[in-house]
Amino acid sequence: MNTFVRIFVLSAYITLVLGSSVRDLIGPEYYDSLTTQWWGPPGEEDKASTDIRPFKVKFTDEMITDLRYRINNRRKVTPPLEGIAFQYGFNTDNMDYWMDFWANKYNFTEREAYLNQYPQFKTNIQGLDIHFIRVTPEVPEGVEVLPLLMLHGWPGSVLEFYEVIPLITGYCEHNDFAVEVIVASLPGFGFSDGATRPGFGTLEISGVLKNFMHRLGYEKFYVQGGDMGAMTLNQMVTLYPEVILGYHTNYPRTLGTKALMTWFTGAISPFFQNAVVDPALADKMYPLTKVFLGIMEDLGYMHIQATKPDTLGVGMSDSPMALFAWLMQAVSWASRRANKSKFDGGLHDLYTPESIIDNVMYYWTDNKFTTSVRMYSEHYNLKTFGTNIESIPTPVPTCTVHAKDELSYMPPSMLSIKFTNLLSSLSLDNYGHFFAWEAPEVFTKYVLEALAEIRAYHARNKTCDHNEL
Ligand SMILES: *[C@@H]1O[C@H](CO)[C@@H](O)[C@H](O)[C@H]1NC(C)=O
Ligand SMILES: *[C@@H]1O[C@H](CO)[C@@H](O)[C@H](O)[C@H]1NC(C)=O
Ligand SMILES: *[C@@H]1O[C@H](CO)[C@@H](O)[C@H](O)[C@H]1NC(C)=O
Repeated sequence: MNTFVRIFVLSAYITLVLGSSVRDLIGPEYYDSLTTQWWGPPGEEDKASTDIRPFKVKFTDEMITDLRYRINNRRKVTPPLEGIAFQYGFNTDNMDYWMDFWANKYNFTEREAYLNQYPQFKTNIQGLDIHFIRVTPEVPEGVEVLPLLMLHGWPGSVLEFYEVIPLITGYCEHNDFAVEVIVASLPGFGFSDGATRPGFGTLEISGVLKNFMHRLGYEKFYVQGGDMGAMTLNQMVTLYPEVILGYHTNYPRTLGTKALMTWFTGAISPFFQNAVVDPALADKMYPLTKVFLGIMEDLGYMHIQATKPDTLGVGMSDSPMALFAWLMQAVSWASRRANKSKFDGGLHDLYTPESIIDNVMYYWTDNKFTTSVRMYSEHYNLKTFGTNIESIPTPVPTCTVHAKDELSYMPPSMLSIKFTNLLSSLSLDNYGHFFAWEAPEVFTKYVLEALAEIRAYHARNKTCDHNEL
């Protein structure tokens, strides 16, 4: 394809789309409602407090007793078919091990202390209590501290970042900046409230999180996320580019029309394919049939969560065993698809049993399964996609990193249509979808490098301005 034509089309597109503000594109009334609409119980608008209250995870004796009772009185599971590991879902021959571990070996007191090792808070935004961790680094005077909002995904939790937090906030003289992290539970997850009425999708969550960061005193900030955190942040950097200084994601994705057209165009012939993707990475995107059959094989969970979350939630909130199997089958699959053929789904290779149960506790303790999966229903619908937000570009400087076993791959040729200031887009030969949880040190290294790159971009952008004047 003629490079000149591509550049011309792209710049004409950017001029046209950016000529109107995002507010105009998605509708001014709707845009404004994102930061004003009340999502809490009706009639409590006047009682809303702006306090930031300290919070601690509490595993009460009553909850533990009830949980152990349910685990110990579980029914016998149906054994897997001969020779089958995780291909039909969670391998039930693992179940006694995990249920015994949870009821008898998992030390609730010790893990509660582990989860409470960082300062945690709650604050109410638009009717919803948002739970978060905030860790401020100690730095020599004059060192710039960058506020970074980090968002987890499903079926994860803030736990994904627990080993990252001390690394990323530890000031190192090698960098001339330090990072203050704000790790929030997505609304409806962990200890954050879910909405009480329909329509609370990723655009609405973005509005709430923008208010949330302002409540904490940040006018401008950086953001990082994977999975549903990234789906939210994609919207947030599009809706509010003026408050977001930079975006790092380990789930680089865009479903904009032009990006998808680019992907499909690559399927026409090797010539087009080479224009779309580095040949060394082409097997992650082509042939399309392979990609779409993979979706059919593995994304059933997403379809049910996106359509009938409440029905699914009945069993998940009643049975620790069902909840565990549903969440951990997804963790196994998203971490290493090839480990379907492994007896334990590869879970033991990547995560400690304690951290696996910790993560499940974020769903069990406050009964948050149903509210968490409603996020899929509120995202994958015409209300969200009808705004065409996926096709609206954002100038927020963006760096991406793609782990080898990540669910899907999108090359810079697609990403840069959405992220017009795509500074870097790395592809690694290791790690999976839960990159931060699986490899906290490597993950932290990439996030810090991205922040340094984004700061350098801002410094350059400033200099250019002066030169033009
Ligand atoms: C659980 O951990 C606490 C705190 O470390 C410890 O005092 C207690 O003995 C442990 N309980 C068991 C059953 O190991
Ligand atoms: C587990 O996944 C890794 C990475 O995809 C793969 O190299 C390994 O062969 C898998 N192991 C099994 C037994 O499937
Ligand atoms: C670059 O600088 C200009 C002028 O200060 C500003 O309007 C623009 O938003 C900056 N770009 C980014 C992506 O921050």
